[in-house]
Parts: sequence; structure tokens; C-alpha cells
Amino acid sequence: MTTRWSGTEAPRGDDYDARFDRLAASGVDVHGEATCVERLLATRGISRGRILDAGCGTGRVAIELARRGHSVVGVDLDPSMLDAARRKAPELDWRAADLSGLHLDARFDAVVLAGNVMIFVAAGSEARVLERVAAHLAANGLVIAGFQLGRGLDLIDYDEAADANALHAVAAYSTWDGAPFVDGGDYVVRVHEKP
Ligand SMILES: C[S@@+](CC[C@H](N)C(=O)[O-])C[C@H]1O[C@@H](n2cnc3c(N)ncnc32)[C@H](O)[C@@H]1O
Repeated sequence: MTTRWSGTEAPRGDDYDARFDRLAASGVDVHGEATCVERLLATRGISRGRILDAGCGTGRVAIELARRGHSVVGVDLDPSMLDAARRKAPELDWRAADLSGLHLDARFDAVVLAGNVMIFVAAGSEARVLERVAAHLAANGLVIAGFQLGRGLDLIDYDEAADANALHAVAAYSTWDGAPFVDGGDYVVRVHEKP
């Protein structure tokens, strides 16, 4: 399947990471996603979670979560992104797979779709991706997705796809550090739960 990511000229691999390296060097906290996932798991009493980094890219979120003691699996379709993840953390579990056809023999406390993954999957595959993600959640597991609004996927459509897969909305933020979402905002971190 052709993803919208495959049609972009976005930097790949080490060039993708270079932007985050520059931000980190200038003092910016580049691990807001990992901190958000940890905070949400903590509200469920989970301090060492099983986490799927869905559309993991170069693995920057999964690697940070593993460093903090979580068990992680990273899945991505772009070999140049996954190669960078494997080079940086060969000891972690990286899988080359399309999220819209994902079948892992594992269940997770949380699935994180960071860095706009949901607007880069193939157009029209969003509900199928959420169906596959939901199928890999443990009971009370969380789907945590951060994406820009107005770039092919709006919150109402995302929520409809989640609803169709029996996922219940539990929170919406405008940033990974938990600022409340306001209508008309251009970025959302949406959290759903599998009851
Ligand atoms: C902007 S990158 C984000 C990478 C990483 N999550 C991050 O936050 O740094 C988007 C990633 O989504 C992946 N992706 C898009 N559609 C996908 C699909 N259907 N299955 C697996 N990965 C997908 C792309 O290959 C790309 O690595």
C-alpha cells in the first residue's frame, strides 16, 4: 500500500533525526511524547508498560521509552527509517510492517502514534489502521495519537474511526505536555481507551 509518507520529500533516517538532535542541543525537551505516554500509563498504575510505537520511524520515541524501563516494539514501513532505528538500538524489537495489516503476537498497554503518523498512512486506511491498533491493545489499553489537523484528517473523522472500533475517547490535548485541546486548534494529542 502507498502511504502518504512515501510521497513526501521529508528527510529520512539520520537526516530526520538531525532536526531533533539540533533541538536537543539547543535545550529543547524532545521527549514530550515519551513523558506523555508514561504519565498516562501512570494514571492506570503502570510504571513499566508494554508499548507499541506504531509508525516508529527512526525509533526516537521507542528508544526513549525503553531507556526509561518500558518494553517496546517499533513498527514502520519505511526501510530507511527503520534502518536508523536498528542502528541506534539493535537490541530492541523493530518490525517492518504496514499498520493497516498489522498482526503481532503481542498485546500492549499503550500504542503511540507520534509525529503525525495518522496523517501519513494511506488515504482511506485510517479506520483500518485503528482497527489493527485496537486489536493489539490489552484490556484498558490506550491509543495515543498526535497529529496536525487540517492536513487530511480532522478530529471528528479520527474520532469516528476510533468509535467504529469501540475505542472510547478519554482525553484531548493540544500538546504532548498536556495543555488542554481547544476547538479550532491545529494540533491534537488524542487519547482513546479500549474498554
Ligand atoms: C513523520 S514520521 C514519524 C516517526 C516517529 N513516529 C516520530 O515521531 O519520530 C511518520 C512515520 O509513519 C510511518 N508510516 C506511515 N504510514 C505507515 C503505515 N501504514 N505503516 C507503518 N508505518 C507507517 C512512516 O514510514 C514514517 O516513518
